[in-house]
Amino acid sequence: MPVMSEGRSSESGFPIRAVYDADDVPGGLAARLGAPGEFPYARGVYPTMYTSRPWTMRQYAGFGTAAESNARYHQLLAAGTMGLSVAFDLPTQMGYDSDHPVAHGEVGKVGVAIDSVEDMRTLFAGIPLDQVSTSMTINAPGSVLLLLYQLVAEESGVAGPALNGTIQNDILKEYIARGTYIFPPKPSLRLVADTFGYCRKEVPRWNTISISGYHMAEAGATPVQEIAFTLANGISYVRAALAAGLAVDDFAPRLSFFFVARTTLLEEVAKFRAARRIWAHLMRDEFGARNPKSLMLRFHTQTAGVQLTAQQPEVNLVRVAVQGLAAVLGGTQSLHTNSFDEAIALPTEKAARLALRTQQVLAHETDLTATVDPFAGSYVVESMTDEIESGVRELMGRVAEYGSAVEAIEAGFQKREIESSAYRVAQEIESGDRVVVGVNRFTVDEEEPYQPLRVDPAIEAAQRERLARLRADRDSAAVEHALADLRTVASGTENVLYPMKEALRARATVGEVCGVLREVWGTYRPSDRF
Ligand code: 3HC
Repeated sequence: MPVMSEGRSSESGFPIRAVYDADDVPGGLAARLGAPGEFPYARGVYPTMYTSRPWTMRQYAGFGTAAESNARYHQLLAAGTMGLSVAFDLPTQMGYDSDHPVAHGEVGKVGVAIDSVEDMRTLFAGIPLDQVSTSMTINAPGSVLLLLYQLVAEESGVAGPALNGTIQNDILKEYIARGTYIFPPKPSLRLVADTFGYCRKEVPRWNTISISGYHMAEAGATPVQEIAFTLANGISYVRAALAAGLAVDDFAPRLSFFFVARTTLLEEVAKFRAARRIWAHLMRDEFGARNPKSLMLRFHTQTAGVQLTAQQPEVNLVRVAVQGLAAVLGGTQSLHTNSFDEAIALPTEKAARLALRTQQVLAHETDLTATVDPFAGSYVVESMTDEIESGVRELMGRVAEYGSAVEAIEAGFQKREIESSAYRVAQEIESGDRVVVGVNRFTVDEEEPYQPLRVDPAIEAAQRERLARLRADRDSAAVEHALADLRTVASGTENVLYPMKEALRARATVGEVCGVLREVWGTYRPSDRF
């Protein structure tokens, strides 16, 4: 191999050589990769991948009232989106009703306000729930929103086994980044395990969790940190389910993941391939999983929001196209492409449509769906795949030294590691070493004015009125009785989703259900050891 001056560093910190050749790819590559759709799935989880079915174009959307979000979903379905992805407002994500004091000013702002089965019914009005797959980005109260979805489906004659979708339900990354947690780790992991057990019986095609690296990446995690901390969280969920008495092949096939796609395309493609290979070995060798579906790391990708710029926002169209390309070359199952105006405000309808069109160009105008894992055998991508795999294994070992991901979280390990990465990137941008087009290089004198979409503040008043009507109309004695049942079961060890579903059917609200669980389980207080 020619001696070359060392090029730049990768996002994960290993050097990127100016030239790679055969010496950079150790022998035995075919066995290390496996064929597409075969262990260890480095080349993709399905034998045919996009040659028989393109990835799901699943655009994250939701704001304001359920009726407004319903309208956006119909627009997206009409524009060709293949799966729905619900964004909830913060009060819903935190298990508070829209009329709770802490909700003031946040109702319908970063997502849709869902307080009850009535709102969920409005959210999916006119949408056949046996024909779409719906992702819900909801964590601490993920089980509550899943049950509301199931109740609405049952009202239109769609039974649990016909439902397909995902709840994010990944509470551990909320303690590390993002912050929409409610309960302490122990009851939170119990609730996740109860959800696994409930879905296994009642909603068997539902993806019970979307173990997420995206938010840690957006907080500054490098690709190696993103994968290592996400898979370490995955191990904690598997252990919690096993401790609850579930058999690994009973729940592992319905675990799913969620990662970011950055503009550094080569390293991102390698990242996805390394993640699949590590998870397959982990599930087979450490947990004894035997069902091939238990070994497949299926994931959703969202392009990197943190790399969007408010300056010259149309340049984001190019960034998102490159990031979407990285996700597709990396074998994603589902993809959200960000709108170019998202660094400024909620996306306009035109911007949201352009984001979807970006995926449609990738799927229908390129030759990317003609073949599987096109980078296989590439000197640089195979070398990076190996580099990332060894970096991830080393960092997962450091998490394991704390005992588990939960103990590492409580010691502030992941948070500290991510913050130091974020600080390094910020310094590089500040110094100009890291170019951000339009921000620290190739700037313009004055930005053209941009009219972002505004959320109508009257939404909160409308939502409070709906809640008042719901509480006046419902059978309060039945609600109280159902909430008392939930309190009893939450204090014991039985699966809480069954009494939870009956309370929601009686039109108990999201806030009331979560309020009972707060009373029984308490709320999480981050340790101050950061
Ligand atoms: N060969 C054979 N079968 C194939 C195939 C192929 N080539 N391609 C697809 N299929 C099958 C699959 O097996 C599956 O069948 P099954 O459900 O019976 O197993 C079906 O076709 C659908 O395929 P996928 O499951 O691969 O695709 P989905 O889109 O349905 O699911 C997922 C993808 C990753 C498994 C799922 O968990 C998912 O959709 N996740 C989305 C998560 C999401 O949207 N999150 C948004 C987060 S936004 C956020 O966090 C907030 C903000 O802060 C960013």
